[in-house]
Amino acid sequence: RIAYVNGRYVRHAEAAVHIEDRGYQFADGVYEVCEVVGGVMIDETRHLTRLRRSLSELQIRDPMPETALKVVLRETIRRNRVRDGIVYLQVTRGVARRDHYFPSASIPPAIVVTARSTDRAKVGAAAEAGVSVITVPENRWPRVDIKSVALLPNVLVKQQAKEAGAKEAWYVDADGFVTEGGSTNAWIVTEKGTIVTRPAESGILRGVTRTTLFDMARDLQMRIEERPFSVEEAKRAKEAFITAATAIVTPVTAIDGKPVGDGKPGPAALGLRRRFHEFAE
Ligand code: PDD
Repeated sequence: RIAYVNGRYVRHAEAAVHIEDRGYQFADGVYEVCEVVGGVMIDETRHLTRLRRSLSELQIRDPMPETALKVVLRETIRRNRVRDGIVYLQVTRGVARRDHYFPSASIPPAIVVTARSTDRAKVGAAAEAGVSVITVPENRWPRVDIKSVALLPNVLVKQQAKEAGAKEAWYVDADGFVTEGGSTNAWIVTEKGTIVTRPAESGILRGVTRTTLFDMARDLQMRIEERPFSVEEAKRAKEAFITAATAIVTPVTAIDGKPVGDGKPGPAALGLRRRFHEFAE
């Protein structure tokens, strides 16, 4: 396997960043994860737009022009012979002597790109069987709109989910409303068939998969509502599902051990999952 590290393609096993990389010392960086299908990145433009936004919110310089970045992404996918899989991109504020203040403007941001294959049939079959989620109190910083590599709270709740036999943890805000998962956006389907997800302006990451799903729902003339939903409403919902570049649309069949609907993956979620790539760009 091959990784791109600060201007060079290197063997994955030997790919390394400096011990004073600000990503390593301060989690001072951002990332994107993009699905690859048939060797092509899904929703590349939306991911790169969000990357630029995350960088600008943190006042980290663009590591390179977007056209060059696209070449690096494609080249990393090609060199790893990825047909189906994911590409990962991380940009940090660069390498400088440890000091909380931003380093001098002459320090270039550091960039890493990796790509790996996944067994699409196997991952797909597992996802279509549905997953369980647990609920946990929201404990992250308020700037979850930035796709920051500071993921310690997410790591802890995902591990907690795993130990509880679940796949994902849904964060719940102080008012009892679901924000999102540790690495996915959260959705429910009401008795009337309306798809509901929390507004992107409040306490969640604006998922690229989420945005594409909005386009899709519109095209398919499905009813979609952007509003907060409570854990109680989710537990009574007809269906629930999660979305992310790594999950596409994955049905949720249980919340805190309680079956959602009939406890089987729902038709809306499965339908959206199966048709997703017709709508993604
Ligand atoms: N996670 N919310 C959070 C907190 C996320 O970390 C992610 C993505 C999403 C979904 O965003 P998108 O649809 O753009 O993938 C929502 C990535 C996949 C990860 O950390 O692995």
